[in-house]
Amino acid sequence: MEAQQFLAVFLVSISLTSAQRPNIVFIVADDLGWNDVGFRNPDMKTPNIDKLATEGIIFENAYVQPLCTPSRTAFMSGMFPFHVGMQHRVLGPRQAACVPLNYTFLPGELKELGYATHMIGKWHLGYCKKECTPTYRGFDTFFGYYNMGEDYYTHLVGKYLDYSDNLLPARNYSGEYSAFTFAQRAVDIIHRHNVSQPLFMYLPYQNVHGPLQVPKKYEDMYPNVISECRRIYSGMVSALDEAVGNVTKALNDRGLFENTLILFTTDVSSCSISFKLYQQFCKICFFAIHLEHGVSFMYGAGLRKTRTSYDGMIHAVDWKPTLVSAAGGTPETSIDGMSHWDSIRNGLPSSRTEFIYNIDDMEVPVQGHAGIRVGDYKLLLGYPGAADGWHRPMNTTQYETYEQIVYLKGDKPVHLFNIREDPTEHNDLTEKMPDMVAKLRARLEEYRKTMVPANFPDPDHSYDPKNFGDAWTPGWC
Ligand SMILES: *[C@@H]1O[C@H](CO)[C@@H](O)[C@H](O)[C@H]1NC(C)=O
Ligand SMILES: *[C@@H]1O[C@H](CO)[C@@H](O)[C@H](O)[C@H]1NC(C)=O
Ligand SMILES: *[C@@H]1O[C@H](CO)[C@@H](O)[C@H](O)[C@H]1NC(C)=O
Ligand SMILES: *[C@@H]1O[C@H](CO)[C@@H](O)[C@H](O)[C@H]1NC(C)=O
Ligand SMILES: *[C@@H]1O[C@H](CO)[C@@H](O)[C@H](O)[C@H]1NC(C)=O
Repeated sequence: MEAQQFLAVFLVSISLTSAQRPNIVFIVADDLGWNDVGFRNPDMKTPNIDKLATEGIIFENAYVQPLCTPSRTAFMSGMFPFHVGMQHRVLGPRQAACVPLNYTFLPGELKELGYATHMIGKWHLGYCKKECTPTYRGFDTFFGYYNMGEDYYTHLVGKYLDYSDNLLPARNYSGEYSAFTFAQRAVDIIHRHNVSQPLFMYLPYQNVHGPLQVPKKYEDMYPNVISECRRIYSGMVSALDEAVGNVTKALNDRGLFENTLILFTTDVSSCSISFKLYQQFCKICFFAIHLEHGVSFMYGAGLRKTRTSYDGMIHAVDWKPTLVSAAGGTPETSIDGMSHWDSIRNGLPSSRTEFIYNIDDMEVPVQGHAGIRVGDYKLLLGYPGAADGWHRPMNTTQYETYEQIVYLKGDKPVHLFNIREDPTEHNDLTEKMPDMVAKLRARLEEYRKTMVPANFPDPDHSYDPKNFGDAWTPGWC
């Protein structure tokens, strides 16, 4: 008994020393569709991702926002985008805005717990002044780009470079596909890492966001896919998978893998509309039955391998407090996110029962929309999003284009769905369940009172990257 008590005290005390905290690798795949991984779809070749997912815990009900800036806001701040002014579309290269500086980002929280913190990949949370950029928001180092998307080889947005090594333009990587550079940088950091500190790496890869580009060798892994768009896209997924494999190998080589927790998630779920060489649009996603869930799983340190999946409700805002808990810290109580660490480890029901999809009152260019989930029900008011319909792209030879859909202003039309019974949202219950509509609408209006107006300024055309060494860099607001 005494020995057990001693052991318990001893275990608690070692769990608090920084050397014992798990290393954390947070991988984001940009715009990866729900069914675009091998563990769900045998047409996809992703052995490294599949191994981590199937030996870890796959999240069946993990929600993300429908766009990059809002999802990344949620990952880093633990706040719903509509609470920090980031709910309207995504930030453009000339917009002088970023997530408000008084929010501590995930790496800042982990730094307090003794972590070395590194980011490699896409930021997209504002960069007009250095205070908005990764190394001022909790990362020890940053290598990557600030904006939404760019050429995978030249790293240009328009005519100018968007590729930075900390605050300096990284000019000598032209011609190198970003997944290689990013994976190599991660491997280098792992090899240089002083193991007396726990390691946090945030790896938001460029893959598989548009434009559709990949070295031919990866495209050639899919000779039976008829659609060129889909073939390239599939290759991009496999290049990402190889990059994931290289990072896990480096962790293994360094003896760090056993004590590493990996969180993998997409930032945008279901259908992504990508574009080929900036010209032709192609629909490349493959809808499965889970229209609104992202690919997401955890692997490694601290998880008990008693189950293969977890179906509790999780939202992107929850990853920050969940990872802080996994690191042995105490998550903030002032944020929207809640930790699911104990529930995930022990297979307990999620303590989340509702969330806001978005509340966006800005009228340009789409006309205001809002959405809420309470239990099994989902209420959408106004513009419900562009990607309507079903698509099976593997056998498609033609490019498809976006359909322009015009919706009424304000909170019409209304859509109500029972997501558990009707995950594909074919059966609108608005007419049948007016009480449920009223209940969810009332809940939504409570949240709307707490909304911070969107910070979505007009582009600043006086900002000219020419004056900044032909690169998109901070220093103009
Ligand atoms: C950040 O500042 C905004 C605006 O002043 C305020 O509403 C919000 O509560 C602050 N948040 C934190 C975490 O300090
Ligand atoms: C680019 O330059 C940096 C700094 O001189 C160097 O560390 C890096 O290896 C170079 N990368 C390539 C791809 O040449
Ligand atoms: C992974 O590592 C191998 C061996 O070093 C290398 O050939 C390959 O290009 C790397 N792939 C990626 C995506 O980084
Ligand atoms: C690693 O960090 C520890 C603690 O700060 C320090 O004593 C040690 O010298 C470092 N090791 C290396 C190789 O830098
Ligand atoms: C493509 O079409 C063929 C013939 O209809 C079918 O057998 C095959 O399963 C389809 N492939 C995919 C990936 O949908």
